[in-house]
Amino acid sequence: MTDGDQPPLRDSRFAISIGATAGLFVLALVVGFIWLPSAQRGANGLDLWSAICRAIGLPDGNASASKPVAGRPASAVAWTTATRQKLEQGDSIGGAAIATTCNNCHGADGISTDAAIPNLAGQSAAAIYKQLEDFRSGKRYPAVMGVYVSPLSEENLIDLSAYYASLPSQKGALSEGPADTAMRRLIEVGDPLRGIAPCAACHGPVGLTPGAPGLKGQQRAYLELQLQLFKNGDRRNDISEQMRTIARQLTGEEIAMLAAYYSNVSNDVGR
Ligand code: HEC
Ligand code: HEC
Repeated sequence: MTDGDQPPLRDSRFAISIGATAGLFVLALVVGFIWLPSAQRGANGLDLWSAICRAIGLPDGNASASKPVAGRPASAVAWTTATRQKLEQGDSIGGAAIATTCNNCHGADGISTDAAIPNLAGQSAAAIYKQLEDFRSGKRYPAVMGVYVSPLSEENLIDLSAYYASLPSQKGALSEGPADTAMRRLIEVGDPLRGIAPCAACHGPVGLTPGAPGLKGQQRAYLELQLQLFKNGDRRNDISEQMRTIARQLTGEEIAMLAAYYSNVSNDVGR
């Protein structure tokens, strides 16, 4: 009897442990590949299938809204040696003559009096040129700027860029903004856990990515709107999604704080 009882008991323990292991395995699959991706997909604008593909490590077949479409790059401008050489040949005096059409909005001295219209004085020529070219090609939504850039030649755009870059910015006119620690960390260190590189590494003063505009002393409402547009994917002329990737991770409160900070600090460095 005793001999006959033992095997069934061992069998049932064996079956239970196999069953439990299999159950845990299935649970881990569901949590790792379905539940977690589905919980995360909203934040990244991914559909469920793309989120699952990404969790497994496969390139997601279903593109998210702002993924670059093959054959449709974010911008027609590339930072080649040829582009840089063209920019060096800009004629600021020729640019000043064309700029009379721009003055009404951007200000006679390149400092605008309307918070929704960006200042151009002292901005980098590369940044100005890229935006003008993107308005002209429609890569950046040309609602307002379109009519002003469409009649202009590439040479005109380069001259205008040289002209505005040569104007003195509001050097020293603004005082250092409030030093909120969390915001300063975003600017100087970034937030590696959310994939946010420090603003200062691309926009100055630490480093300057080609075409990255100076932000210091820029209009507050303008900065805030641009970050919102990058965040929701309505502005997508940033090469390699450099800004969209970052802005998507920023909260509305952080965007407002960053815009307030940059608009308030003296722009004598970092441009
Ligand atoms: C009717 C007003 C108006 C006129 C005239 C105008 N702009 Fe603009 N410009 C804007 C507004 C508004 C924006 C912000 C982008 C937007 O809302 O479309 C802008 C954006 C820009 C930008 C992008 C700046 C940045 O930091 O990204 C550049 C460069 C620029 N304008 C240059 C020019 C030049 C050069 C001219 C003249 C040929 C001109 N603008 C004429 C209103 C105007
Ligand atoms: C990896 C480099 C990089 C980092 C990091 C970065 N930016 Fe940018 N940013 C760019 C580039 C490049 C552009 C120009 C995009 C284009 O070509 O239209 C830009 C554009 C912008 C603009 C639009 C300015 C204008 O005049 O139109 C704002 C505002 C901005 N960035 C804010 C920020 C803030 C705030 C941070 C930090 C939280 C940040 N950026 C971090 C590269 C970067």
